Amino acid sequence: MRIDLVTIFPPLVAGAFEHSIVKRARDRGLVEIFVHDLRDYTSDRHRTVDDYPYGGGAGMVMKPEPWFRAVEALREQGNPGRCLLLTPQGRKLDQSLVQRLALEDRLILLCGRYEGVDERVRAHLADVEVSIGDYVLSGGEPAAVVLVDAVVRLQPGALGSSESTVEESFSEGLLEYPQYTRPPEFRGWRVPDVLLSGDHAAIERWRRQQQLQRTRERRPDLLPMVDDVSETTSESQDR
Ligand SMILES: C[S@@+](CC[C@H](N)C(=O)[O-])C[C@H]1O[C@@H](n2cnc3c(N)ncnc32)[C@H](O)[C@@H]1O
Repeated sequence: MRIDLVTIFPPLVAGAFEHSIVKRARDRGLVEIFVHDLRDYTSDRHRTVDDYPYGGGAGMVMKPEPWFRAVEALREQGNPGRCLLLTPQGRKLDQSLVQRLALEDRLILLCGRYEGVDERVRAHLADVEVSIGDYVLSGGEPAAVVLVDAVVRLQPGALGSSESTVEESFSEGLLEYPQYTRPPEFRGWRVPDVLLSGDHAAIERWRRQQQLQRTRERRPDLLPMVDDVSETTSESQDR
């Protein structure tokens, strides 16, 4: 997979891709990540990327020309990929969207700043608009870092164990079960006996039950999407 990220602050994101799982995935050739400076696609001496909003109002708006020039130049280098505009007005990022994006050969991420980008970028350049949540960031860069991290860790071979993503929160529509490691007792708080029992079937059952209980308590909105929700319902009646 190839990811191109366009921003006016390349150093803000570059470091995020030089550590841990994303770095390892790059080193293994599972993903190529390129960070581009939007100002390289301006045509004036001052490398201008913004201008006053038509109709007045506070702040500046990012001009369309550098974005179109940047994406068109990047697309000349092969596969057009999917062009994503990071915006608080976009589809909210969740694990199912991450899973779909992880299957793409190429993503081009556009990170806005100021009051946002000229509407023509949204309407005629971006294929998808993505938000990372219902709050407003100063720029799309932190959102792009979140998206890249979530997508890269789903690339086959990116994690140490192929099991790791299967049992995670949201992968089956449920939150993950509680995790413990040694010591078996810490400050009087014991690890549940079942986890020390060596009985793998019992551990599986306990984990499933914990996932359902946790999801029911914390994120009941997720349950309608889960296949064995009847199990949850009967359990809640038992309580
Ligand atoms: C200050 S915001 C602009 C917000 C815009 N005026 C609005 O009200 O929709 C600047 C840039 O940050 C990015 N951004 C802010 N919040 C975001 C979010 N929740 N998800 C993704 N990108 C976001 C977008 O790229 C946006 O163009």
